Amino acid sequence: MSETTEQSAFKADVLSGKTAIVTGASRGIGAAIAQKLCEVGANVVLCSRSADAVGQIADTLHGKGYTVLPMAADISEKADVETLIKKTISQFSHIDILVNNAGITRDMLLMRLKDEDWDAVLQTNLTGTMYCTRAVLRPMIRQRSGRIINISSVVGLAGNAGQANYAAAKAGIIGLTKATAKEVGARGITVNAIAPGFITTDMTAQIPEQSQQQLLELIPLREFGHPEDVAAAVCFLASDAARYITGQTLQVDGGMVM
Ligand SMILES: NC(=O)c1ccc[n+]([C@@H]2O[C@H](COP(=O)([O-])OP(=O)(O)OC[C@H]3O[C@@H](n4cnc5c(N)ncnc54)[C@H](OP(=O)(O)O)[C@@H]3O)[C@@H](O)[C@H]2O)c1
Repeated sequence: MSETTEQSAFKADVLSGKTAIVTGASRGIGAAIAQKLCEVGANVVLCSRSADAVGQIADTLHGKGYTVLPMAADISEKADVETLIKKTISQFSHIDILVNNAGITRDMLLMRLKDEDWDAVLQTNLTGTMYCTRAVLRPMIRQRSGRIINISSVVGLAGNAGQANYAAAKAGIIGLTKATAKEVGARGITVNAIAPGFITTDMTAQIPEQSQQQLLELIPLREFGHPEDVAAAVCFLASDAARYITGQTLQVDGGMVM
C-alpha cells in the first residue's frame, strides 16, 4: 500500500461516487485493492473473516479520509454473503463494483490430497466467488451497470504441481467469469478476471526460498509482483476506460505465463 495518489496513473476522481466491495481485504492483494479504489474516489466495503483484521485496515483508510465499511463475512457461507450485500445496499444504496479477491490455499500432491482440503479450497475460492457474484447481479441489473472483477491466478491457466485443488478453483473462476459475462453483458455489466503471477504477500511467503529463486528464473521481468500491480489492473477494469472489455482474463505476472 505504498503508492500515493499523486503517483497514481488514474485521476483521483475516476471512481468518485461508486461503491465497491472487496472480499479478502484484510491484507495482501485485497488490502492494496481497497486502498487503490479509495484513492480514486470509491466508497469501499472491506470484507474478511476476521473482524479485527478488516477493522484495522478500515481504521487506517478512514484515517486518510476515505469512506469505508468493514464487514466480517465468510464468503464460503451463503448467509454471510447475503448479509454482506444487504448491509452494503442499506449503507450506500448501490453496488457498482465487486472484487472477488478472497482466496485460500491447501497445497498437497493430488495422490495425498485430503477430501477436506479439496472441499475447502473449492468452497471458498470458487463457490464463494459464485455466491458473491450471484448476490450482486440483482442490484446491478436493476441499475443497468456494474463491474465484477474476479481474482483468478496463472495457476488456473497453466496448472501447478501440488495445487490441483487451487488450480481447479482458479480455472473454474475463469469459466464462471466468461459465462456470467455472456449472461449479463446486455444489462450493462462487465465481468472480467485477473490472473496474477507471483505476488509478494503472506500467501507466497510460505514458499521456500530455493523454490522462490527457481520461480524468479521463469519470470521474464525477473522480479516478483507487488499487491499494487494487481490493484492497478483492478482499477483499470473498474474504470470507464475498460467499458468495452468483458469476459477477459488479464494476466499480471511479469510475463511468467504466455
Ligand atoms: N499472492 C500471489 O502470488 C497470488 C497469485 C495469484 C493469485 N492470488 C490470489 O489473490 C487473492 C489474494 O491473495 P493474497 O496473496 O493477498 O492472499 P492472503 O494474503 O492470504 O489474503 C487472503 C485474504 O482473503 C481473506 N479470506 C480468506 N478466506 C476467506 C473467506 N472464506 N471469506 C472472506 N475472506 C477470506 C483473508 O482474510 P481472513 O483470513 O481474515 O478471512 C485475507 O484478507 C487470492 O484469491 C489468491 O488466490 C494470489
